[in-house]
Amino acid sequence: MKKLIWAPAMICAVMVALTACGGGEEKKAEEKKAETETPAPAADNSMVVSVAGKGKELIAGQDCATCHKETEKVIGPSFKEIAAKYPATDANITTLADKIIKGGSGNWGEIPMAPHAGVPKEDAVEMVKYILSVK
Ligand code: HEC
Repeated sequence: MKKLIWAPAMICAVMVALTACGGGEEKKAEEKKAETETPAPAADNSMVVSVAGKGKELIAGQDCATCHKETEKVIGPSFKEIAAKYPATDANITTLADKIIKGGSGNWGEIPMAPHAGVPKEDAVEMVKYILSVK
């Protein structure tokens, strides 16, 4: 008889403990988020997403995949490595867009990045925005 009374009480205690634990972690995650998040309006974020999609399409229409993969180094660095090296600032986006058009070497090794003289600057910028969004 005693057992029957204790069983629900135990379950209760376990559940309380679990809830308390979960709540604590959630709070930590929230605090961390608040620290790392840079204030940006929600509308801007959605724009970045659609712009990144366009860059991906533009890259698919070029020969980039011969030398670049999203997460694996092929002949050139992976897009993930490039995104880790360069924060998505206007200056970096401009420099990298120029590099797509003009080509060049030296930032990752001796193998040169192929020039793409036929790519319009705006397209190169879209491509870079996509590359820098690869995490
Ligand atoms: C023939 C192979 C090849 C092709 C094709 C190629 N890349 Fe590259 N890419 C490279 C190499 C090699 C590097 C590293 C260059 C260096 O060390 O500075 C590179 C570097 C880059 C970088 C980083 C530049 C830097 O200075 O850090 C970006 C961005 C990039 N490529 C984008 C592209 C895009 C977009 C395309 C398609 C339009 C493309 N690549 C096509 C070989 C290639």
